[in-house]
Amino acid sequence: MQRSAIAALAGQNQLDATIAGFVTAIRVLKRMIFMIVQDRSGRVQVTIERAQESAAAELGAIALGLTTGSAVRVRGTVVANAAVKSGGVELVARSLEVVGPAEAGLPIDEHSASDLQLDWRFLALRRPENLLVFEVQTTVERAMREYWAAHAFLELHSPKLMHSASESGADTFSTRYFDLGSAYLAQSPQFYKQMAIASGFERVFEIGPVFRAEPSLTPRHAAEFTSVDVEMAWVESHEDVMQMEERWLHHILSTTQREHGKAIEQTFGITVDVPPPRFPRLTMREAHALLRQMGHEIAETTKPGDIDPAGERLLARWALDTHRSEFLFLTEYPSSLRPFYHMRAEHDPSVTKSFDLMWKGVEITTGAQREHRHDVVSRQAEEMGLRESVAYYLDFFRYGCPPHGGFGLGLARLVMLMLELPSIREATFLHRGPTRLTP
Ligand code: 4AD
Ligand code: MG
Repeated sequence: MQRSAIAALAGQNQLDATIAGFVTAIRVLKRMIFMIVQDRSGRVQVTIERAQESAAAELGAIALGLTTGSAVRVRGTVVANAAVKSGGVELVARSLEVVGPAEAGLPIDEHSASDLQLDWRFLALRRPENLLVFEVQTTVERAMREYWAAHAFLELHSPKLMHSASESGADTFSTRYFDLGSAYLAQSPQFYKQMAIASGFERVFEIGPVFRAEPSLTPRHAAEFTSVDVEMAWVESHEDVMQMEERWLHHILSTTQREHGKAIEQTFGITVDVPPPRFPRLTMREAHALLRQMGHEIAETTKPGDIDPAGERLLARWALDTHRSEFLFLTEYPSSLRPFYHMRAEHDPSVTKSFDLMWKGVEITTGAQREHRHDVVSRQAEEMGLRESVAYYLDFFRYGCPPHGGFGLGLARLVMLMLELPSIREATFLHRGPTRLTP
């Protein structure tokens, strides 16, 4: 008999069915054994009668030896029963096969500490709220691709082993590479997505792994994460890139709300709000002035010209109160805070044609118009002492390169903020951080 999804049993009565999944609970009574079986679609109560006749007794004996977590296949009859919680049906078992027995005593339950949950990630992921995270992530990625497909973007798969650092010299992982010396793990596909622009691809995206050797243990940082990158040719300024990102996020959030809004509300108690068509914007200069007005003093450890996390949260509040927007673009970052490839503003070379997008007070994106003029980008690389190591990148601009811009967004940050998860660890299949390399 074909396997039925557990959710499909709801509303049935007197139907023969086979289900397969994990046993999540077992309760043994004198005449009955009840267990809950879960597959990806839902949970159902399975009822086993412990009668004297041999077939039923054998079934009862198997059920008595069962441990929670075991993978089972159950055949039986679906019976409507308004008294049971999941789906208003139970499955009265006729046969029970323990396909993958679990050792007795699961090492975690939903109350275990978060680090232990990560040690036993495969067990933690079985819980429906964790499965939902990855259903949402799948929809988010699909919606991203839908938008790009409708707007003629090409997909890239750029190498992750590189000859030099792709963002800053610090924070790179290195490894030995044949007879060529050292290789560095890509911190971003930045250089290669720009190469695609010099190759005439015009609009590109990549969803792929990137690596950052930052020793940060914050809830927002990972040493390896999935980066979502976009690059577009023939932009007039970073404003064109921001407008593309607004439309793209609008499509992503409205699709997610439509497909998972109800489940997200039931599971996490939050709503996914479709953003306004235009997000508020503040230049960094305006943002600093606003924070001064609010009486906020930037923490001393902050780099000159930057905004501390507390300041970012105040600005998020301001965007919500005055523009009803959870999103806020901060633009025109000081050149000293940005990589050499960001284009500087015509009206003031001390600032860049760049932006960060904040969602709920946390950075999800950095983007910019890039410097495509070979002499200018070479000079800017030189100023940061990078000219030699990025020589191959500077070549991209020697034989005609259109003006272009783009952005990078952390997939797990987006999902973490959307579902208001406590950390990026819960929004990542397997977290990598300074103190974690397993499982
Ligand atoms: O801000 P970042 O470093 O920018 C770049 O990589 C540029 N090449 C982007 C561009 O096109 N100009 O990284 C982009 C995004 C961040 O906004 C954040 O969402 C995420 O990637 N991110 C991280 N996510 C998890 N762990 C980390 N350590 C992250 N660092 C950045
Ligand atoms: Mg950034």
